[in-house]
Amino acid sequence: MPQISAFIFDLDGVITDTAEYHYRAWKRLADEEGLPFSREDNEALRGVSRRESLLRLLKGKVLPEAQMEEYMARKNAYYRAFLTQITAADLLEGVADFLAQARAHGLKLGIGSASKNARDVLNGLGITDQFDAIGDGYSVSRTKPAPDLFVWVAGRLGVPPAECVVFEDAEAGIAAARECGMYSVGIGDPARVGAADLILPNLAGAQVDHILSRLANLAH
Ligand code: BG6
Ligand code: MG
Repeated sequence: MPQISAFIFDLDGVITDTAEYHYRAWKRLADEEGLPFSREDNEALRGVSRRESLLRLLKGKVLPEAQMEEYMARKNAYYRAFLTQITAADLLEGVADFLAQARAHGLKLGIGSASKNARDVLNGLGITDQFDAIGDGYSVSRTKPAPDLFVWVAGRLGVPPAECVVFEDAEAGIAAARECGMYSVGIGDPARVGAADLILPNLAGAQVDHILSRLANLAH
């Protein structure tokens, strides 16, 4: 039976649904600059860093670095205005219970988020102290699908990657977990997270026992 010692959670789209706020912030910038940007375009930005998101929004249009910086700062200011409203009520259904179950199993808990705003989101949700390690957009330079962030979090947890399970809603996040030999649980649309070891629609009603025994039965 393989040993599983830690759960590492992506934040946006797994613990809370900030995708809508990212969308509204990018949309406001896009409208101000006359750039086309739809909700569908936004779906493709899940898990994608701020700079890479802007590059995708520009669809090949090349801008001077200073202007790129100004666009990213403006989008982030719009996004951060939404963050001031985040409270514990913004935890996705089932998350609080799932974290409590994982703790009761003696698992270590980590966050592996591409966001430079992750700590503010966690503070707003009131769950910062539930995690033994928090990796965010400042922790490593190579972003998902590179495995660096999850490896960094595992190191902070003092757990080998092969004993970690990553919970992710983004294709790039599942790829990152697989790349470093971690188990992966995809949250949401199978079109995005189909490469995961297990797929769940969300964490509502999820049972830690059940997940551990299903992962234990995989050839890993
Ligand atoms: C990810 C989000 O968690 O963080 C992306 O899914 C976002 O949409 C990325 O672009 C970076 O976030 P931030 O807060 O540093 O701009
Ligand atoms: Mg995500």
